[in-house]
Amino acid sequence: MPQNQEAWTPERSAQVKEEPAQRAGDTEQNAPSPSLLAITNTVHKLQETFGNAPEVAVVLGSGWASAAQQVQDAQRLDYTALPAFQATGVEGHVSALTVGRMGTQRVAMLGGRKHTYETGDCAGMAGALRSLKSWGVKLIVQTNAAGSLRTHMPPGALMLITDHINATQRSPLVGESGNARFVDMSAAYDPELLNHARKLAVTKHIALGEGTYLWALGPQFETPAEIRMFAAWGADAVGMSTVPETILARHAGLRVLGLSLMTNMAAGLSAEALTHSATLQQAQASGAFAAQFLTDLISSLADVASLHR
Ligand code: HPA
Repeated sequence: MPQNQEAWTPERSAQVKEEPAQRAGDTEQNAPSPSLLAITNTVHKLQETFGNAPEVAVVLGSGWASAAQQVQDAQRLDYTALPAFQATGVEGHVSALTVGRMGTQRVAMLGGRKHTYETGDCAGMAGALRSLKSWGVKLIVQTNAAGSLRTHMPPGALMLITDHINATQRSPLVGESGNARFVDMSAAYDPELLNHARKLAVTKHIALGEGTYLWALGPQFETPAEIRMFAAWGADAVGMSTVPETILARHAGLRVLGLSLMTNMAAGLSAEALTHSATLQQAQASGAFAAQFLTDLISSLADVASLHR
């Protein structure tokens, strides 16, 4: 058995969903949780392929894929070899796990995330995140592309996610049982690691914005009226991911950090039409800058004592 391995327990997350939907998209219920067997087999495969778990895993969102090329001594495994991982069908994402190091910090990079808008199931990343936790990972760094609601964070800007708004009010934990499902979300984005990232940005002379990320289901972009409402609610950036994974990660007892790369001004805030290819184009244009900050951040985590005990 791998070091640090904790079996996925019913207390941490009941394996049996109360009333699994036949097809999640039809009912807005989540698909059945990945089985304990799928998670156990996944952890064995991870251990066999890569050895003991790195402390840090990164979920690479749109525009962040080039960061996987910065991994040194990289070994790669397709999600198809990992029974608890779901492949994604979204352009700009590759469904593969890359494990290696950045500086002296070992890291696992998830090349794709399953989005809720693909199937209607918002727990598509449950198996992957629970497997990483069982393997021994301690921190999930989430990255995404987002629309900006703030003129001081134009396209190309980076935003540290300090909090989120779940505008969909959907939860990947619907159907779970036990008290562990009542997750405290009051400091979902790790306060110690937020400070660490802020200090690093100062040291590296990088303009790092910060703010609240709002999850809109998509896949359609928002209307200008929705964006006006979200701004009044206190949102600084809007996107179609990250929030369900943060909920799943906190439920699993993983620490979380999040970074948004602004790819456009949100609907109604600029004259430009919103398209997926335009957001990918902008993401590619600023992707190298984002990937460099991410690389610096991951390497610097080698100095964070609380991740290494
Ligand atoms: N809205 C939602 N998701 C997004 C956007 C946006 O404007 N840009 C990139 N992802």
